[in-house]
Amino acid sequence: MILPGADRLQGVGEYYFSQKLEQIRLLNIAGRKVINLGIGSPDMLPSPQTLSAAITAIQSDESHGYASYRSTPGLREAIAKWYQSTYDVAVDFEREVLPLLGSKEGILYVSMAFLNPGDKVLIPNPGYPAYASISHLIGAKAIPYNLCENRNWWPDFEALEKSDLSGVKMMWVNYPHMPTGASAAPELFEKLIAFGMRHKILIAHDNPYSLVLNPDPPLSLLSFDPKREISLELNSFSKSFNMAGWRVGMLIAHAEVVNRCLQVKSNVDSGMFLPVQSAAVQALANPQSWHEARNFVYQQRRRLVYRIFDLLKFTYSREQVGLFVWAKAPDEIKDVQAFVDQLLLKAGVFLTPGFIFGTLGARYARCSLCASEEQLKESIQRLENYLEASLS
Ligand SMILES: Cc1ncc(COP(=O)(O)O)c(C=O)c1O
Repeated sequence: MILPGADRLQGVGEYYFSQKLEQIRLLNIAGRKVINLGIGSPDMLPSPQTLSAAITAIQSDESHGYASYRSTPGLREAIAKWYQSTYDVAVDFEREVLPLLGSKEGILYVSMAFLNPGDKVLIPNPGYPAYASISHLIGAKAIPYNLCENRNWWPDFEALEKSDLSGVKMMWVNYPHMPTGASAAPELFEKLIAFGMRHKILIAHDNPYSLVLNPDPPLSLLSFDPKREISLELNSFSKSFNMAGWRVGMLIAHAEVVNRCLQVKSNVDSGMFLPVQSAAVQALANPQSWHEARNFVYQQRRRLVYRIFDLLKFTYSREQVGLFVWAKAPDEIKDVQAFVDQLLLKAGVFLTPGFIFGTLGARYARCSLCASEEQLKESIQRLENYLEASLS
């Protein structure tokens, strides 16, 4: 007999990719050789200096005990310097930085530190699914706010002002936006901070894509709230430094906010493996040329992804930034999820259906740039064959 699970699991399914990757694994065992264009997991190496730092540290007998809950001062200092040089934001490394095991866990810690059961939290539709599921897991109420193509996927502040904001404690925002590839602009961030101040809503900005195919200078929301009164920012090594599997992210916030999150975090995990911290310090020192070379590869791949969507008659904006291309299905395709499943089963090419990002994503699909040109060309070939066969 298996006892029933907790009520909080009701309405939260297993993470879509967790299920889908298992389906792909089984298809591969059956000999299918699926090309996975769904997930944003960088396939290129971190910089050589990053790898050497990890290797050197792992050989030291001082690297294998528990690490400090706040991480080493060296990592926090390197993060603060990187915020200064990348975003022109001054950060006190002693008090305002909390390294995380990836930014996804930061979404949980921030939510646990700020939301009581029943509190409301504004989440983007479409948007990263973890905002809604984590809100649900901790008993908060996720209130979607609409993002539409005709507003460049920015919030409609007039509509928000007119909506019932009672009980709303926090708002998740994420620019460059995933999945739509919409970019940030100073005007947007100014409005967000003003909105947060006016309604006493904490604006939690999730910023993992600011260095990927995003024109200079990348923006931090914190530039627009220098005293960190109403905002915080999560950032990540996953996409900017090709370190998704290493699990390194960060929270930059007011010292009190950092302490509250540490209150949660230090009761959950026991620090980040020291060689990972040493590697992260090196990664932060990657020269601009390293980032440019990475972006050049993504740019070349993106041209092939455009061809994939052209072939499928999906439409998209070429102004998008970040690690994906987001494209709208033609009217003839009635059910995009079913269409994407067909492509997986019949052509062995996996794209992400937009419905997983919210109801306003239902007419869209997302293609990742984390696949080699060779794989993308092979995908084009497979899709051409599939379309030809389905016409005949
Ligand atoms: C918008 C957004 N936020 C956060 C994350 C999580 O990143 P990390 O690997 O740092 O946990 C992702 C990962 O895909 C993402 O797309």
